[in-house]
Amino acid sequence: MQFISNSASETKNIGSIIARNLLPGDIICLIGELGSGKTVLAKGIASGLRMGHKKVISPSFVLIREHRQGRLPMYHFDLYRLNQLNDILSLGYEDYLYAQGVSVIEWAQRLEYLFPSQCLKVEFFLKPGKKRVLKFSAKGNRYKKLLEKIHENIGN
Ligand SMILES: Nc1ncnc2c1ncn2[C@@H]1O[C@H](COP(=O)(O)OP(=O)(O)OP(=O)(O)O)[C@@H](O)[C@H]1O
Ligand SMILES: [Mg+2]
Repeated sequence: MQFISNSASETKNIGSIIARNLLPGDIICLIGELGSGKTVLAKGIASGLRMGHKKVISPSFVLIREHRQGRLPMYHFDLYRLNQLNDILSLGYEDYLYAQGVSVIEWAQRLEYLFPSQCLKVEFFLKPGKKRVLKFSAKGNRYKKLLEKIHENIGN
């Protein structure tokens, strides 16, 4: 399933539509090159969970940032600077994944064998100007349902 975004605010809006449908424990894996819009989508998810999205910045120098003010906690991962998988394991990566919040993971492809077996995967493709193609795929039944709901909401 693909969505086209023509601006950062459209991507943010897609994020807030995703957020509306999230349940405790949901995992969203974001994959795409530098500047493709992963953090923008994460901000949209945070604002849809009713957190101050201004606090959601690219976590660059920390691998995991926890936001607790919203409808559900959000664990925002940025694995761009991940050197070895042990670095996130020692931060309790797996405990976050199976906690009651929502995990949003930038550079999720760096997870290799730790890539969640069930998740909503969003791949970003940079196009000329402000255009981005967001390709969604669901791994597991929970995420197929989530994707159906997102599709209904974005269609409206
Ligand atoms: N349609 C769009 N969707 C998202 N961002 C857009 C769009 N058009 C322009 N932009 C701009 O592109 C940039 C995307 O930056 P963002 O930090 O979200 O990228 P990223 O994928 O998180 O990169 P990084 O890998 O460095 O973390 C922002 O400056 C944003 O304003
Ligand atoms: Mg980013």
